[in-house]
Amino acid sequence: MNTRLRSQNVFQFSSLAGGLICAILAWQATTVVCVAQPATKPVPGIEKTGSSYRLLVDGSPYLMLSGQVHNSDTSNLDDLNRSLDVLANWHANTAEVPIYWEAIEPAEGQFDFSSVDMAIQAARKRDLHLVLLWFGTWKNGESHYVSEWMKRDKQKYTRVRGARGEEMEIISPLCRSAMEGDARAFAALLHHVKSVDEGERTVLMVQVENEPGLFGTDRDYSEAASELFGQPVPKELLSFIESHRQQLSAPMAEEWNRSPKSGNWKQVFGQLAPEAFSAWLIADYVNTVASAGKHEYPLPMYANVWLIEGEERAGRWPSGGATLNVLDVWKAAAPAIDILAPDIYYPKFYDVAAQYTRPDNPLFVPETNFNPYFIPFAYTAFGNFNAIGFSPFGIDDVANGGPAAAIGAGFEDTYRVLRPLLPLIARYQYTGKLHPVLQGLGNGEDWKMSIRVGDRLAANVNFTAAFDPAKGRAGGIIIELAPDDFVVMGTGFDVTFRELEGPLRDAEIISIEEGTFEGQRWMPSRRLNGDEFHVSLPTDRSKILRVRVAR
Ligand code: DGJ
Repeated sequence: MNTRLRSQNVFQFSSLAGGLICAILAWQATTVVCVAQPATKPVPGIEKTGSSYRLLVDGSPYLMLSGQVHNSDTSNLDDLNRSLDVLANWHANTAEVPIYWEAIEPAEGQFDFSSVDMAIQAARKRDLHLVLLWFGTWKNGESHYVSEWMKRDKQKYTRVRGARGEEMEIISPLCRSAMEGDARAFAALLHHVKSVDEGERTVLMVQVENEPGLFGTDRDYSEAASELFGQPVPKELLSFIESHRQQLSAPMAEEWNRSPKSGNWKQVFGQLAPEAFSAWLIADYVNTVASAGKHEYPLPMYANVWLIEGEERAGRWPSGGATLNVLDVWKAAAPAIDILAPDIYYPKFYDVAAQYTRPDNPLFVPETNFNPYFIPFAYTAFGNFNAIGFSPFGIDDVANGGPAAAIGAGFEDTYRVLRPLLPLIARYQYTGKLHPVLQGLGNGEDWKMSIRVGDRLAANVNFTAAFDPAKGRAGGIIIELAPDDFVVMGTGFDVTFRELEGPLRDAEIISIEEGTFEGQRWMPSRRLNGDEFHVSLPTDRSKILRVRVAR
């Protein structure tokens, strides 16, 4: 560690003189003495080349094989330690850990970063990277994590009103004082993270707010908000949508096609109007918070999304979050947010992943179900969708034993084989040479699937156990290192390579080895021949095979 904390972590903020940025620059660290040595590692970043994205850590492409702890874990060291032990045990490389506004700013302008330092230290002990989750103004579409002093002062920190005028437990996105307070606290957080982490770069990324939006109403019905709703849609939004019309999400494209493209929110966005209006306000708020943080320390930042599930109305999901309906409004209003990241609890993982993988948005899955059905979606995310990260939620359930322990064992089994392969997978993303295997996708892949690999071969996959979603399912990935050289990894399937040219035959297998990778280097542990001369991955334990076939 290049930067060391020498005393307790309490910051005192000076007043908001002359606007937010000035305030950020003017703050004073009263009791922390940080001895900063020159940073040697680059700041983690997201690199975009054409429509390909890479998360760069220490200058190299990095995939986050992660897990998210339960919401209250950062308030107790034992809980956090237990959770991070789970992830270390799984061979995860990253932990997603919440940071609470109410904990870091217990009194207005006074900051206590002990929970942040605790999380960073706990992660370092286990050689884990961190994604910090900023539970600020929004948490699941409500404002339960704002500080007590803010909750009590409803005059200054105004609330959203529901359609019947009822006051909601949500700070209004129109409340400037709240936005400035959130931005100031978030900037203080990032300033602190930089001061303690620029030597090691344990923290890779920050989630700004948590599932922002308005839960329980489609928009703010306060007088001020209703007046704004009746006014013309801002020109910047109209021209952004028009100039991106080739890549709009399906529901927005449909609405835009029939829109008069000028007028008030209802006239322009029709049935999407309340959600689009809320998205515009909330995304702008979140953008202000993210920008203040980036000004201090430009880590990659994302917003996670509570998705639309089934036939429902905005407000059942937090209205104004970056759902498919209004994802493009977020892209227009929140350029400081690098990624809009879906929380995929929905079984149609594949469809959602496809919707959030766009030329303007790389896939990151910050939350998915802690459930056996979802385990092999790790292969889908990295292999099909070039994701930069994958993370089940609530991984500390493992400590409850019983079925949760068995689910944890399933994640451990997959993470154990995926972890050493990550540099190789990162290298082959966007090349068409990664071929994920997944049982039970819904198109008859319950027993078999057939994948074209390279120019002249098909990999015919036979799943070796019946598809039972409750028990988990077979999955893995085939990586085409060369036309005659493959990595086949995962669990629960056999592969035959069929020639697609010349005489009708299977490709001759030259060698099959078990082993693993160290970086890009193959480390064989056993050569399979005789009775074991099959490309076969057992149902009870994941494996990595390297298979060479005749040219
Ligand atoms: C999504 C939220 O982002 C998480 O913090 C957590 O509340 C989960 N839902 C619970 O399922």
